Amino acid sequence: MTDRFVAAIDQGTTSSRCIIFDGSSHILAVDQREHRQIFPRPGWVEHDAAQIWARVQEVVAGALGKAGLRPSDLAAVGITNQRETTVLWDRATGRPVHHALVWQDTRTEALCAELAGTEGRDRFADRTGLPLASYFSGPKIRWLLDHVPGVRERAERGELLFGTMDTWVIWNLTGGAVHVTDVTNASRTMLMDLRTLDWDDGILADFGIPRSLLPEIRSSAEVYGTGRGVLEGVPIAAALGDQQAALFGQTCFSVGDAKSTYGTGSFLLLNTGKEPVRSHHGLITTIGYQLGGDAPVYALEGSIANTGSLTQWLRDRIGLIGTAAEIETLALSVEDNGGLYLVPAFSGLFAPHWRPDARGVIVGLTGFAGKGHLARCVLEATAFQTRDVVDAMVLDSGVELKALKVDGGMTANNLLMQTIADMLDAPVTRPFVSETTCLGAAHAAGLVAGVWPDLDALRAEWRRAAEWTPRLDDRVRDRMLRKYRKAVELAKGWID
Ligand code: G3P
Repeated sequence: MTDRFVAAIDQGTTSSRCIIFDGSSHILAVDQREHRQIFPRPGWVEHDAAQIWARVQEVVAGALGKAGLRPSDLAAVGITNQRETTVLWDRATGRPVHHALVWQDTRTEALCAELAGTEGRDRFADRTGLPLASYFSGPKIRWLLDHVPGVRERAERGELLFGTMDTWVIWNLTGGAVHVTDVTNASRTMLMDLRTLDWDDGILADFGIPRSLLPEIRSSAEVYGTGRGVLEGVPIAAALGDQQAALFGQTCFSVGDAKSTYGTGSFLLLNTGKEPVRSHHGLITTIGYQLGGDAPVYALEGSIANTGSLTQWLRDRIGLIGTAAEIETLALSVEDNGGLYLVPAFSGLFAPHWRPDARGVIVGLTGFAGKGHLARCVLEATAFQTRDVVDAMVLDSGVELKALKVDGGMTANNLLMQTIADMLDAPVTRPFVSETTCLGAAHAAGLVAGVWPDLDALRAEWRRAAEWTPRLDDRVRDRMLRKYRKAVELAKGWID
């Protein structure tokens, strides 16, 4: 029986987590630790990758301790991670050459505009599924090569390695033996061709990135190597970007299945099957997952940069609340938003607008507005953004959304989930295991290790825990959406 436990490591934007599941997808133990958010200038966001690796080891040891297990009790471990965040390190010493540049960091905006040139932001979209934006890893690698003294020379001598957080964690877990990434993470670099699943030499040349930096691209579920140290002897058997892991954990295995995860940002993914679908309404094309030698499954994604991070901002920078949970109480202290609308374009606007020149705005202020209204409009911003992305998905796929599966930390907020159901005019459902990101990584690793036999076995374990149904008057909803969209227009073009 003990060989049926599977661990998942989720290296996220604000914290790292390890969860241990049993063979029935029940959680045995969770350990979680935050790491430092470094904001050197407005729009710049960095992480200390060495600190992240220390945190990962702590949470693995912590979760094993709480579960009363040893590494040898684990059948496999799956890795999931914040995507796009970019680290370069020395292959001999393992030391990062600079802080990691986080996905929210906008410092490469001028570089993206330059690379777009006369061909425009969609210059690489046919091959990569992505618009040229500071969000993705390619421009971040180029920035490090151009701005950190000596780094380009060291890269050209083959001394350095690049990784997103999956690669960094796996390289460290294997004591520097394995330098790989999976297709889902590679699909966020802007350097991989979505069809060949290989690095694209033309794009590498355009970005000026030496191929020797890059990890080998593998499927999302196969044994990449064996753990050393804190996971001594454990097969590392899956890797998926966190949003793709959540898609997998929500068992969105069929074309048309969709989920939305509410974390630091929010990400709506729709399974589109075996062929990449090009969006014409501001979504991106990405890889959903690839199991071993099977064909990859593609997805359309609506990426929203700031949602949960807004609650953190209210807590840590503005000081309006003491804990994240207090935002709901404060928002419920008023009847409505009091006329306030917030567009949280802290890193520009992502899907479906892709406006790097946008910055946050709060409009509708009068002397009547108080703390409760501010809390309320912060929560509503997440619901409005979800609606914008769903509209784009309906236009791209031609399929009406019947219900939305949700997960992530913010789903504990009932008011927010009700507001999302109201804005979508569709039911919102949350599964029993709301830790779907970790669950997805554990499921993928467990499939490889034989803990679960097939996708049907995983499907059978998805159970609904909560559902919110729409109850807002149509006219009120339409009016709110109209106001929000007016506010979005005000946010655009702030950076000139
Ligand atoms: O694309 C960024 C995303 O992967 C970050 O996810 O959950 O760390 O906010 P999260």
